[in-house]
Amino acid sequence: MSKIPVVVNGALGKMGREAVKAVTEADDLDLIASIDMDDDLAETLSSNKGCVVVDFTHPSCAYKNCETILDAGAHGVIGTTGLTEDQFQVLDKMCADKKRGFVIAANFAITAVLMMRFAAEAAKHMDRAEIIELHHPAKADSPSGTAVKTAEMMALSREAAGLPDFEGPESEKELIDGARGGSHRGIRLHSVRMPGQLANQEVLLGAPGQTLSIRQDTIDRSCFMPGVVLACRRVRELDGLVVGLDRLLFG
Ligand SMILES: NC(=O)c1ccc[n+]([C@@H]2O[C@H](COP(=O)([O-])OP(=O)(O)OC[C@H]3O[C@@H](n4cnc5c(N)ncnc54)[C@H](OP(=O)(O)O)[C@@H]3O)[C@@H](O)[C@H]2O)c1
Repeated sequence: MSKIPVVVNGALGKMGREAVKAVTEADDLDLIASIDMDDDLAETLSSNKGCVVVDFTHPSCAYKNCETILDAGAHGVIGTTGLTEDQFQVLDKMCADKKRGFVIAANFAITAVLMMRFAAEAAKHMDRAEIIELHHPAKADSPSGTAVKTAEMMALSREAAGLPDFEGPESEKELIDGARGGSHRGIRLHSVRMPGQLANQEVLLGAPGQTLSIRQDTIDRSCFMPGVVLACRRVRELDGLVVGLDRLLFG
C-alpha cells in the first residue's frame, strides 16, 4: 500500500519538530517536505496535490494557510490555534465545495479530548463553571483554543439538555480590571502564562456544598502526536471539515 504524503508546515517550531519526528516514524506516512517561515506553502503544494499538510505555525497565519491548502487541492491537519467561529464557517463551506477532508483540532492530546467530554457532561449537572488554563509564556493567543472549545462544548451540552447558559455571579466591585477573567456563555476563563508550564487546564464546577475539578496536564509535546498521526491517516477519507479530535476518536 502506498504511503500517505505529508508536508509539515512550521517544521522548525516546537510542535513542528515533534510532528516531523512522528511522521518520519510512522510506517504508513511519507514526509515529503518540512517547511517553515521562509518557505512558500503554495509553491510547495503546487507539485503535491492530494497530500496532507500538518500545520503548527502561528494564529496570525492559520486561516490564510487553510485557504492555501484547500486552494492547492490538499488536505489539512491543523493544530494552529486562534481561528474564529466565523472562519470555521467559511472553511466548512470551502471544504464542502471542494469536497476535501480537513481536520482542525485545538488540542490533539487524548487526555484533553477526554477532559472536554467529561466537562460537557458535568456542565448539565452543576450550577457554575470556571476554566483556568495554564501555558508556557511563548503562547501567542489567550485564552487557549482548548479553553474556548471546552466552554463551547459545555454550553452546547446545557443547551441540548434544555438548560440556560451558566450565569455569574459578577463581583460587586472589581478592584483590578480583569480579575474575574474573560467570559464565554457565562463560563469564566482565566489564562496563566508561566515558565515551567507546557499546556494544562482545570475545569471547576460548583453546586451548593460540592465542587468538581477536572484537570488535564501536558508533560511533554509528544502527547499530541498520536492524535496528529491519527488525523493524517483519516483526513483523506473524511467528507468535509471536522473540528476537534473527538469526532475521529468517538465518531
Ligand atoms: N492543536 C494542538 O494540539 C496544539 C498543541 C500545542 C500547540 N498548538 C498550537 O500550535 C501553534 C504552534 O505552536 P508552537 O509552540 O510550535 O510555536 P512555535 O514554537 O513558535 O513554532 C511555530 C513555527 O512556525 C513558524 N511560522 C510562523 N509563521 C509562519 C508562517 N506564516 N509560515 C510558516 N511557518 C511559520 C515559526 O517561525 P518563527 O519562529 O520564525 O516565527 C516557528 O518555526 C500555536 O498556535 C499553538 O497554540 C496546538
